[in-house]
Amino acid sequence: MARVAIVTGGTRGIGEAISVMLTGLGVTVAANYAGNTARAEEFTGRTGIRAFQWDVSDFDATQAGVAAVEAALGPVDIVVNNAGITRDGTLMKMSKASWNEVIDTNLGGCFTMAKAVFTGMKERGWGRIVNIGSVNGQAGQYGQVNYAAAKSGIHGFTKALAQEGARFGITVNAIAPGYIDTDMVAAVPGDVLAKIVQRIPVGRLGQANEIARGVAFLVAEDAGFVTGSTLSINGGQHMY
Ligand code: CAA
Repeated sequence: MARVAIVTGGTRGIGEAISVMLTGLGVTVAANYAGNTARAEEFTGRTGIRAFQWDVSDFDATQAGVAAVEAALGPVDIVVNNAGITRDGTLMKMSKASWNEVIDTNLGGCFTMAKAVFTGMKERGWGRIVNIGSVNGQAGQYGQVNYAAAKSGIHGFTKALAQEGARFGITVNAIAPGYIDTDMVAAVPGDVLAKIVQRIPVGRLGQANEIARGVAFLVAEDAGFVTGSTLSINGGQHMY
């Protein structure tokens, strides 16, 4: 029986690559998106993957959104918590809104999604949750106290939930991407980005497919002994 997956932020960037790769592996994918309907329609037209709109930072909207996916496609076996935003700025310039938006979306979204799927996964005795962290959650990054805190929180969330899921056949893992060639990274000022790329031993930005490859590994049927781990995919930028 084909597995059903939700990829949050699944119509663009890294999420799009994950949606497409899982579909290629025979998984039925629901690609969640927050607000860019034109892009979601273009994505669905091009890939045939259905898109579902809700804001993962909104608890009630997420419960309703997951229920809509399950009504359309069946019980959800795989969740990839990929939705993420940046509101970069030094602490002194950072507003309360910029802090809250990033924490509520990037970290809060992992909570709202897990709450929506965990009981069903437990009842069926199988589940895969992959949370997309960041090298900047591992190493910190100037101008990103909000983003680094949220992404670092994802790594703790992953290890705690992995312990809760293990006896029910639910694995929970994280991937920590480095700088990947997406719209998010393209928004970093050019001179700043050039200095960052200079510090990547592989000497280039990563490609979204290189993160999707890691997700495919972690959600595989025979990956049941891999849980609570963080897979760094960063071109050697940060090793630990
Ligand atoms: N280390 C030390 N000092 C730094 C610094 C750094 N990395 N970057 C900037 N500074 C210094 C500047 O030299 C400057 O010093 P002076 O005031 O003495 O001249 C001071 O900090 C202020 O710098 P700016 O004028 O650039 O400040 P700003 O407020 O205009 O912008 C910033 C700051 C928003 C942080 C900008 O530098 C920036 O966008 N940096 C990139 C942040 C980044 O890497 N974001 C990643 C986005 S992609 C992503 O997040 C995906 C992922 O998971 C990897």
